[in-house]
Amino acid sequence: MRERIFLSPPHLCGEEIREVERAVQSNWIAPAGPATRQFEKLISQYNKIDHCVAVSSGTAAIHLALIVLGVGREDEVVCPTFTFAGSCYPVLYQSAIPVLVDSEKEGWGIDPKLLDEVIADRIRLGKKPKAIIVVHLFGMPARMNEILTVSKKYSIPVIEDAAEALGSTYLDKPAGTMGDLGIYSFNGNKIITTSGGGALVSSNQEWINYARYLSGQAKSQAPYYHHEAMGYNYQLSNISASLGVGQFSALLTRIEQKRRLFQYYESQISKYGFEFQQEQDGVFSNRWLTTVLMKPGAAKNSNEVIRLELENENIEARLLWKPMHLQPIFEKYPFYGSGVSENLFSRGLCLPSGSNLSQEDQKLIIQKLIKK
Ligand SMILES: Cc1ncc(COP(=O)(O)O)c(C=O)c1O
Repeated sequence: MRERIFLSPPHLCGEEIREVERAVQSNWIAPAGPATRQFEKLISQYNKIDHCVAVSSGTAAIHLALIVLGVGREDEVVCPTFTFAGSCYPVLYQSAIPVLVDSEKEGWGIDPKLLDEVIADRIRLGKKPKAIIVVHLFGMPARMNEILTVSKKYSIPVIEDAAEALGSTYLDKPAGTMGDLGIYSFNGNKIITTSGGGALVSSNQEWINYARYLSGQAKSQAPYYHHEAMGYNYQLSNISASLGVGQFSALLTRIEQKRRLFQYYESQISKYGFEFQQEQDGVFSNRWLTTVLMKPGAAKNSNEVIRLELENENIEARLLWKPMHLQPIFEKYPFYGSGVSENLFSRGLCLPSGSNLSQEDQKLIIQKLIKK
């Protein structure tokens, strides 16, 4: 059978091998090293943000962001319900309480109006949230202006989960840099990858210094190992970072490729009852994943039927995120719903979105989707 078509596989550009070789030959086979520092610089420069610490995953970066903001036992943290679980797990790591909030209809990010109402309600209950996590879903920036207005109104810091949105912008500002802290993921399926990795960014140097200290097992300055805080083994290895340095050189091309693929899908199948996630004014998405919604009554089959049909052809597609309030691990936490995330989950599908998807495979997928 033909090789499997994956949802979003790694896409190497050729520079990686040179960078990894350099790291190996220099014997920096270490938890950190010059490539890690270089990778951090690339992330900072690209996103025009002063401070960055590279870590072992996007989830670790969110965890450190919560610690830096002082989130602890029984503190509440507002999270979107419509996201990947990795956005919310770190709240549980801190024995804190996720307060799950529904999405807005256009971009699918956390609903700013509902966010305002939720925070007012939590304050009324004597439980002012300690932080707000915002996610740029599938690369599409959330409505940051309105969200930041709410954040300022209540003086609650924002953690921007831009795991999927490196290269996306909102009113020309890079995703991940508008909140108090931002995170990226370099997991194998992301727009660029270190095989596994993440980064935490902020314009607050003290926070990033503290996160760096915690990520390296909290070793204080001393001739022996001295620990005043609970540390984590969250550093990004020099070898992983060297992959990332190589990958970075292709980022702009990858964004172009992802966007071109989105446009191709849209031009080919929108007349067959598939709706596409649209960029609102001032928004630029890296189109990490192309996602579609089945128009009610228009698409011939449900998202799951289409997914299975593609699977039968060895093509990987995936339903949109199952909302966190429907997940056994999160269902006991407060949830403020509007029906939007459940509707997205019931109608949505992520299409194969590899920046290296061949034209032949693109045509094949289109044929299967419109059942020619
Ligand atoms: C929205 C979102 N948040 C967080 C994460 C966690 O990142 P990582 O897999 O690097 O831990 C991911 C992806 O994996 C993600 O898609």
